[in-house]
Amino acid sequence: MHDLVTIDDFEARARERISKQAYDYFRSGADTELTLRRNVESFAHFEIVHRAFVDVAAPKLVTKILGEEYASPIAIAPTAYHLLAHEEGECGTARAAESSRTLYVASTLATTSLEDVAKAAPHAANWFQLYVHRDRSFTMRLAERAKAAGYRAIVVTADTPVLGRRVADVRNGFALPEGLAMQNLVESLPPDLDLGKGSELARYVAARHDPSFSWKDFSELVRACAPLPVVVKGIVSKEDAAHAMGAGASAIWVSNHGGRQLDFGVATIDALAGVVEEVGDRGEVYVDGGVRSGTHALIALGLGARAVFVGRPILWGLATSGAPGVSRVLEILNTELLRAMQLAGCKSAADARAIVRRRA
Ligand code: GLV
Repeated sequence: MHDLVTIDDFEARARERISKQAYDYFRSGADTELTLRRNVESFAHFEIVHRAFVDVAAPKLVTKILGEEYASPIAIAPTAYHLLAHEEGECGTARAAESSRTLYVASTLATTSLEDVAKAAPHAANWFQLYVHRDRSFTMRLAERAKAAGYRAIVVTADTPVLGRRVADVRNGFALPEGLAMQNLVESLPPDLDLGKGSELARYVAARHDPSFSWKDFSELVRACAPLPVVVKGIVSKEDAAHAMGAGASAIWVSNHGGRQLDFGVATIDALAGVVEEVGDRGEVYVDGGVRSGTHALIALGLGARAVFVGRPILWGLATSGAPGVSRVLEILNTELLRAMQLAGCKSAADARAIVRRRA
């Protein structure tokens, strides 16, 4: 792995290691992939005005997220199907996260049960991502299981009433290979559910997610998840941030699902400042989307994000060499962030607020 210097290097290596179907699934965005490209490219809308002769001999990455201390504000977003990337699967990711004290959000669509992921990293303070199913009691059962397994927060995904169309998956007839399953969901799969042709996941979501879920239902969900805090993931507007805070959310996660849902969507880094302004001191704001370097993370911190989540980079590390690959990806991102902070004159993430601005 020593020849892999950037996240793009890991992506290229991962691509050689996994099937075309798997690579296409992890890499793709929706439709023309404009949102996917925008997420990455829109970081160029911002610039960093460095400060000179600040004592940056020992900059600090350590931070608190929802009251828990982690080694870095760079954290691991929920992504599906880690066993498709590597035989260590979600347990490998969880072990790498735990050993570097990184926050990891386990996905509803994991190929390992949430209980087994928790057992793989018994000292971690991880979160669980929840999709709202039509079967509300099944949805609540997932939240209860997460609570019982020691997860510290429930992340409710708000951008997936139906699945975005990932063209390659439709063409590939993408489905989990024999032997792999969505382990959190197996107990509830109706025997007659036709996952047939096209994208298997798109059919699952169409059959089981609840597209009628609204903010009123959300307040009930927040109450039912108590005492765990609820984070809403998939918000890009001030209006929705206000709804979420009003309904009892503890934090807002600015996300467009890595460009995998709505095409022509706003880039998350462009949406971040408005949401931060709306939320003010009522809660924390996080962001994901297009983060491929520590400098991207510094820009996001400068715009007010408390945590910056990465999805695909972790999958590229996992596919390259299991848990050590994930650890190396985290190390690269954190080293890049530290270096960018030192060059910019930031002793801590909070200092970034004063030095990042939108380009004229
Ligand atoms: C699952 O959440 C996906 O985006 O494929």
